[in-house]
Amino acid sequence: MIGIFDSGVGGMTVARAIEQRLPDYRTVYFGDLARSPYGSKSEETIIAYARQNTEFLLAQGAKVIVIACNTAASVASEILTREFAVPIFEVISPAVDKAVAASRSGAIGVIGTRATVRSGIYEKKITGQNPQCRVVSQACPLLVPLVEEGWFNKRETKMILRRYLHPIRLKNVDTLVLGCTHYPLLKNLIQPRIGKRVTVIDSAEAVAAGLAKFLEENPEVEASLSHEGENLYYVSDITEAAADIAKRVFGRPIDLQKISGETFC
Ligand code: DGL
Repeated sequence: MIGIFDSGVGGMTVARAIEQRLPDYRTVYFGDLARSPYGSKSEETIIAYARQNTEFLLAQGAKVIVIACNTAASVASEILTREFAVPIFEVISPAVDKAVAASRSGAIGVIGTRATVRSGIYEKKITGQNPQCRVVSQACPLLVPLVEEGWFNKRETKMILRRYLHPIRLKNVDTLVLGCTHYPLLKNLIQPRIGKRVTVIDSAEAVAAGLAKFLEENPEVEASLSHEGENLYYVSDITEAAADIAKRVFGRPIDLQKISGETFC
């Protein structure tokens, strides 16, 4: 199985891209809704959660792990890669590859949670690839709750987006990375507010393409993945808002299964 985790259901944008790209492989998703949001938590806590989520997915039979959460990826991906023997994929590197390739001026904007922006991971990876690039980052802590409330077409959401994007616009970026699972769901509102000439990057498809390439090149890992059964969607808590987001992402109702146990509460 391909194991995918996020702090909630926003990471389903990544799960969906993987399912579309690799429809013959079974996936198991875990959304840690009981402990989300991760974006406002300390590094230590996020790392502990990411470890537990990985262990849960491995116990379900995952042979490959995808960290669909930008916040968890930004602080825990190197640690998980060191600690676990399975291949670990994350959402940041593919977004960085796409952004560096897309940017003509080298001025790249990044929006994400407080923890992602604080980690400086996008700057590090972008300038690591091209030292000429200039990165402008902006934490947007109000966007996750707005998406979770389903406020997609509200005046307030548009106003808040304008406020967050204004300082980035002033820096004349030509590329903007959506560095959070929830932001692709606001893409239609973000594009006109950042400017139609700015390339808006979302990493879900790039992660799926990277994983497909890896499986082609690593037949021993490919052979360990199951093709039988249904895709599974586990969560550590179920809320109406989460079920609505899952439905919006997949375009159909998703059977979210709540796991029990003391770890995830
Ligand atoms: N999944 C998180 C991310 O991509 C957003 C939600 C949260 O803060 O937990 O950064």
